[in-house]
Amino acid sequence: MFSLENKVAIVTGGGSGIGRAISKLFAQQGATVHIVELSHEAGAGVLQEIRESGGEVFIHVCDVSKQEQLTAIVQQMDKVDILVNNAGIAHVGNLENCHSADFERIFNVNVKGAYNALYAVVPKMKEHRSGVILNLASIAAQVGITDRFAYSMSKGAIAAMTLSVARDYIAYGIRCNSISPARVHTPFVDGFLAKNYPGQEKGMFEKLAQSQPIGRMAKPEEIAGLVLYLCSDEASFITGNDYPIDGGFIKLNN
Ligand SMILES: NC(=O)c1ccc[n+]([C@@H]2O[C@H](COP(=O)([O-])OP(=O)(O)OC[C@H]3O[C@@H](n4cnc5c(N)ncnc54)[C@H](O)[C@@H]3O)[C@@H](O)[C@H]2O)c1
Repeated sequence: MFSLENKVAIVTGGGSGIGRAISKLFAQQGATVHIVELSHEAGAGVLQEIRESGGEVFIHVCDVSKQEQLTAIVQQMDKVDILVNNAGIAHVGNLENCHSADFERIFNVNVKGAYNALYAVVPKMKEHRSGVILNLASIAAQVGITDRFAYSMSKGAIAAMTLSVARDYIAYGIRCNSISPARVHTPFVDGFLAKNYPGQEKGMFEKLAQSQPIGRMAKPEEIAGLVLYLCSDEASFITGNDYPIDGGFIKLNN
């Protein structure tokens, strides 16, 4: 079960955190993994790990917010069986703290980046009349989270994009789903704590950990397990859905 033998997968932002765990697990399950990253350095660690364990992996240097860069990468590929839209960035602040430049930065990476990858990949999947897309949404798309105005906006757009693509391409054998993690301990979390709560990182980390009723943050590998299932042939009846993976955050907090 859950074999990805002979599958070609693109993982955006696969050099760190959740994307890194997904890339490693996909390679372990037999996929050829194409990681899209901002720089060679960002992908170098995972490239080495996967190759050392006998997996097949390539790094493509690309900013997902730039459509022509993504299109050029996908054009070189014969087929794409799986796309994981994972690259994403954070912003902490309410509406008044979200200046136009912040809004555009978050929008360009989190929303337009996913659109750019879909725009490049879906015609190829359509040609082969098969494909699986998995988008990284967030609990922030479903519940109001304090001080996450721009980020929540971007993840709401991901949830809606997922439904639209799932509906329009169901007849072409393409499945499209999203997942909504609560906090996952990755460099993304460490980065925004350092940037937004300097000197209070430890306390804030613990507060964020406790906001999951299960009492901790997720590990990237726990997220990768769900992604593998949804992208595998075992999930062939699943499309047009979002899967929270949240330690009870949405339904058990009161
Ligand atoms: N960590 C969490 O708590 C959490 C919770 C819910 C959802 N998510 C989502 O999961 C995804 C991955 O998060 P993470 O915590 O692993 O983050 P991370 O910061 O550890 O990794 C993100 C990766 O994306 C890459 N990236 C950023 N901008 C890019 C761009 N413009 N083009 C190409 N690559 C780019 C970075 O270089 C980095 O390697 C994001 O979409 C995030 O919103 C994270």
